[in-house]
Amino acid sequence: QGNPTPYELIGEGQLHKLIDVFYSNVSQHPDLQPIFPDDLTETVRKQKQFMTQYLGGPSLYTEEHGHPMLRARHIPFEITPERAKAWLSCMYQAMDEVGLEGEIREFFYHRLYLTAQHMINTSGTDG
Ligand code: HEM
Repeated sequence: QGNPTPYELIGEGQLHKLIDVFYSNVSQHPDLQPIFPDDLTETVRKQKQFMTQYLGGPSLYTEEHGHPMLRARHIPFEITPERAKAWLSCMYQAMDEVGLEGEIREFFYHRLYLTAQHMINTSGTDG
């Protein structure tokens, strides 16, 4: 009972499709492709688990991998402001492609925007 979670509003099927399309965009983005593995199978699987819990669904990511510690897990990669923008543009485009619209899209994108800013760990101007 009570209000549906964002996870329930989007639905597992649309969330999974969104993440599949998102990583297909990432793999084609010149600023992102170099820092991601060639085979994104495992990345996609983990992101489906993570976003499920991020949106109020079951804690699939934590059950398998422990606390997300997202910023710490991103430290090995140079996340510049440009890469954060690129990441968000791949997501924006994926939302268009799967037809995620309305308030739920705005809510989700805004949260991703804030999280993406938090992942920035270098200005990228010092080499
Ligand atoms: C993993 C890049 C933002 C969630 C990764 C990986 C890279 C990356 C290179 C490793 C992929 C792999 O080895 O499988 C970036 C960049 C971002 C960004 C450039 C731009 C700001 C985000 C945001 C979220 C997120 C906003 C969540 C809302 C994750 C998760 C993983 C991951 C859950 C898997 C962690 C694990 O290995 O368990 N990211 N990321 N990332 N990212 Fe990001």
